[in-house]
Amino acid sequence: MKRFEDKVVMITGAANGIGRACALRFAQEGARVACLDMAAEANESAAEECRSEGVEALALLCDVTSKESVQDAVNVVLKAWGQVNILVASAGVYTGSPLEEVPLEQWLRTVNINLTGVFLTNQAVAPLLMKQKSGSIINLSSMAGKTSFPASAEYSASKSGVIGLTRSVAMELAPFGATANAVCPGNTLTDMVRGVAEKVGKLDGLTGEEWLQMRASDCPMNRLAEPWEIAGVIAFLASDDSRYLTGQSIEVDGGMVLS
Ligand SMILES: NC(=O)c1ccc[n+]([C@@H]2O[C@H](COP(=O)([O-])OP(=O)(O)OC[C@H]3O[C@@H](n4cnc5c(N)ncnc54)[C@H](O)[C@@H]3O)[C@@H](O)[C@H]2O)c1
Repeated sequence: MKRFEDKVVMITGAANGIGRACALRFAQEGARVACLDMAAEANESAAEECRSEGVEALALLCDVTSKESVQDAVNVVLKAWGQVNILVASAGVYTGSPLEEVPLEQWLRTVNINLTGVFLTNQAVAPLLMKQKSGSIINLSSMAGKTSFPASAEYSASKSGVIGLTRSVAMELAPFGATANAVCPGNTLTDMVRGVAEKVGKLDGLTGEEWLQMRASDCPMNRLAEPWEIAGVIAFLASDDSRYLTGQSIEVDGGMVLS
């Protein structure tokens, strides 16, 4: 039997990058997958990719900053499959600028998507896990939630917030046998990081490609991560092998934060 054959997983930010790699990984391991994202076309293609692995998959248009939109998505999943066992909260944005140039709107938007979005999805799914006395929540933080870089005030703050939020959710879930953990990836080759490379690279007088190479050589493993490498750790955190592991924020960064 595949590891997640009897499980239902909801993934925010499933249309691209790490969320999409998670959708595929859970599909390959037998889960029914609900892909939640605002990018409708890419989200449908993520769900289609899951179906091609022989599982059921739903593509749901969802804005994680809207309580209503999140609850609507949960309701559709419950109507279709009657349960939610795993939540992966991967929807996020990066909007780095030097501190004095961060417009208030940019701060609010980043915190709203990266932190409030995680709060709203956790709040909608946690009671289901408590009721069924099992299940896992995995929230995407970042190495930027553990350490800091210039020009990332709102991003770092939102990702540190995810770590604190996850700890608190873990404490509430623990008596019910369910877990919540955060994953803190290093630079991972997705559209997000390519966008960061272009934007932050410019501040250092580098092209996007040069900035990516610089970050790779900063990393003790001398390379950036592939999205499937993050998805593998997330699948472990959703599996029975990690039943006694909760409230942690795990660096999956090739040793970046340690260095
Ligand atoms: N790529 C990296 O290097 C890296 C490193 C550390 C942490 N992370 C975190 O991992 C997560 C995934 O990042 P990624 O690199 O895959 O990014 P990505 O840009 O490739 O994908 C993010 C997805 O989130 C979706 N999204 C954005 N706002 C949304 C909203 N309001 N509602 C629903 N969906 C929304 C986007 O449409 C997109 O599909 C993010 O939380 C990010 O902060 C990424």
